[in-house]
Amino acid sequence: MNLVNQLIVKSLPLVPKPLVRRFASRYVAGETLAQALQVVRRLNAEKCMATLDVLGEDILELSETETTVVEYQNALEAIAKNGLDSNISVKLTALGLKLDDAACRRQFQRILENAGARGNFVRIDMEDSSVTEETIRVYFDARRATERVGLVLQAYLHRSREDAQRAADAKANVRVCKGIYVEPPEVALQGREEIRNNYSQMVDTLLEAGCYVGIATHDPVLVERALATIQRLQLRREAYEFQMLLGVAGDLRRRLVAAGHRLRVYVPYGVSWYGYSMRRLKENPAIAGHIVKGLFGSGL
Ligand code: FDA
Repeated sequence: MNLVNQLIVKSLPLVPKPLVRRFASRYVAGETLAQALQVVRRLNAEKCMATLDVLGEDILELSETETTVVEYQNALEAIAKNGLDSNISVKLTALGLKLDDAACRRQFQRILENAGARGNFVRIDMEDSSVTEETIRVYFDARRATERVGLVLQAYLHRSREDAQRAADAKANVRVCKGIYVEPPEVALQGREEIRNNYSQMVDTLLEAGCYVGIATHDPVLVERALATIQRLQLRREAYEFQMLLGVAGDLRRRLVAAGHRLRVYVPYGVSWYGYSMRRLKENPAIAGHIVKGLFGSGL
């Protein structure tokens, strides 16, 4: 990232929330389930699948987890009732992973059982490296009882190649992404190309092992590499899916769908939109620049 963009990204926390919200609205479906369902309906009409994410993470009180569990249960019920093509993505810190491991697992189990009873599927999002190990443990423990659960591995972590091999051995359902949290060099690769190479090797390892892989990226280079592997292995369309975030890379998404690939869009919604929106804006200094310019009226 160049110096101007670094400055813009550093200034983002100074921006008033209403302004952040206006510019981040492309990335978030809304505050309510009804708004999120409308977005899923539109995506399904465009031949895209969806995954619903109830926004919220790093809670301070265990009591907050109840609202999240109920919201996911409502979402699962609405998906089934409306015949929508969507699963759900869950962050374990929103269920108290950093506060009380056992309580988090109990709450997660309730979501998992609700999804299982409806024939749906739960993806466990991957958060910062302080919870990687425990998140993977929760995944493998859940996986002993059901196949309707999936893991996420981040290509920037040094450990992820080994995790991918373990997931491959277990025929896990894995979303592979680059990773969005700021991690130190001891924990994560820092260079664009080395992260790309790790990403492609992980995708190849998983696909070659017969895992169902969610290829989550908007990077055209990685999409091309994944397509080459898919062709080399002569994979059926049902063996993998591409995944993208709401509000990002619409053209690439439409091209993949037109070519007949399965594609799922990550649809976040809820009142706790701030942390997620900031991460998306930091990835996109062009938009962040407009915000900061608007704020300071400068030519930053
Ligand atoms: P890269 O960041 O290089 O982006 C490639 C191109 O996409 C950019 O050049 C730009 O054109 C466009 N682009 C990317 N982000 C944009 C934005 N915000 N606004 C506008 N354009 C943008 N991470 C994580 O740590 N844990 C997780 O569980 C998940 N889950 C997840 C699910 C799904 C479906 C996706 C697509 C991504 C995630 N991520 C994630 C985020 C992921 O780790 C990563 O930060 C982003 O996907 C951006 O990385 P790319 O691979 O797209 O490459």
